[in-house]
Amino acid sequence: MKICCIGAGYVGGPTMAMIAKKCPEIPVTVVDINQARIDAWNSDTLPVYEPGLDEVVKEARGRNLFFTTEVDKGIQEADIIFVSVNTPTKTYGTGAGKAADLKFVELCARRIAEVANGDKIIVEKSTLPVRTAESIRRILAGSGKPYNFQVISNPEFLAEGTAMEDLTEPDRVLIGGEESEAGDKAVAALVDVYAHWVPRERILTTNVWSSELSKLTANAFLAQRVSSINAISALCEATEANVSEVARAIGTDSRIGPKFLKSSVGFGGSCFQKDILNLVYLCEHFGLPEVAAYWEQVIAMNDYQKRRFVDRIVKTLFNTVSGKKIAILGFAFKKDTNDTRESPAIYVCRDLLEEQANVAVYDPKVTPETIYRDLQTDASDERVSIMTDPYEAMKDAHAVVILTEWDAFKDYDWQKVYDNMLKPAFVFDGRNILDLNKLREIGFEATGIGQGGKRGTM
Ligand code: NAD
Ligand code: UDX
Repeated sequence: MKICCIGAGYVGGPTMAMIAKKCPEIPVTVVDINQARIDAWNSDTLPVYEPGLDEVVKEARGRNLFFTTEVDKGIQEADIIFVSVNTPTKTYGTGAGKAADLKFVELCARRIAEVANGDKIIVEKSTLPVRTAESIRRILAGSGKPYNFQVISNPEFLAEGTAMEDLTEPDRVLIGGEESEAGDKAVAALVDVYAHWVPRERILTTNVWSSELSKLTANAFLAQRVSSINAISALCEATEANVSEVARAIGTDSRIGPKFLKSSVGFGGSCFQKDILNLVYLCEHFGLPEVAAYWEQVIAMNDYQKRRFVDRIVKTLFNTVSGKKIAILGFAFKKDTNDTRESPAIYVCRDLLEEQANVAVYDPKVTPETIYRDLQTDASDERVSIMTDPYEAMKDAHAVVILTEWDAFKDYDWQKVYDNMLKPAFVFDGRNILDLNKLREIGFEATGIGQGGKRGTM
């Protein structure tokens, strides 16, 4: 048994590293067309920052875990091929702005069809619209080769920042296969891989369409919770209710539960927006405009939350931020990752720059190149400075804006920060991680998200 994974990204890298660690007798090869990314996977500085990932890669790399650009060889040698390439929102043609761009998935299917030299199990690891397996099957069948190609769905539920924990102890592993003898056999082969470390009762098997649709549905439900609590945060700010208290009160209802109720400047990441838009597009495609509108509102609320946060900053800073230095703490879309895809920080910084502010950005893991790229500018831009020292970023600033919930931010010497800032010194905590009352005692004018009332400090 040999495994190949096409796509060495945030999903392909960590998931294959975990399989290699837990199944030392199975050779696992991760292939990618991006030479720089493969080089980074083979170096001491991995392209993905994820707590605990370095150790797992170090343990397995060279033993039964390999990273290479030799895509064809990887395909030919493997019995099971995971497809873990990116599926971004389409930017052109039919479905632009909503549908998933399946060009990379299709290219993989065509490559497999062209070079395969035996039976293959093809595993959809990428998040895909329901019924994609059908298209992949048709492409594979088009090769006219005498081999058996089984396409099964095995969506990945890991969240960035906790990927290694999520992979070690998943709530469940979902595997969807064709309802046939060959389909059952392919599903069983993949179940055997996961059963090396995941208890059998946590490995759910379904038909392939349910599996594809469950992934989009899970992300839509999670994002909906964040948008729901963020909608209430706006009402809290208008009424002196406190969103953290409301979240605690409703989260203790066992029917609701405490998770995904943290109000924030808005959700980000490569998945939520893309997957909900994809769901919206599917609903429209299948003639269900009311269902599409229902889910689209989750995105609308998220856009509103980001805009609302910037409006509040500008209003509080006497209706103008023009020429003012605003320190931005955190650029990643959440803590413990170097990923900035769809990070609210991008939108907040862009809006502040539009208001002619100067931003000084600090993030412990995101590189300056990434920040400049995301803000569509470069080092020659005097309005954007990227700092390696957070205290330097906040020195002489009019305001500090927290956009990622990095733990280290809580332990800063906030008295020292205050002493070095212009007065009045403002703090806008877009993640509700700081003790606002303590900051106020120091002298800050401090605001969180939905933090009405005096006790509401978390
Ligand atoms: P990514 O952009 O980090 O990685 C994708 C990789 O695929 C890139 O390195 C790219 O070079 C490579 N690639 C693209 N086309 C290729 C081809 N034809 N041949 C070889 N390599 C190719 O993306 P990601 O974040 O790892 O996401 C991958 C998929 O997993 C997406 O469908 C995403 O929705 C899904 N997913 C992501 C997460 C997450 O947290 N990032 C979680 C669950 C599921
Ligand atoms: C998500 C899904 O959780 C994961 O299962 C899927 O496989 C990929 O997409 P990810 O995007 O890595 O994972 O992070 P997640 O923890 O879901 O957070 C998404 C966004 O929501 C982040 O910007 C986060 O800060 C925000 N969020 C999350 C909140 O604002 N409040 C919360 O209570 C939870």
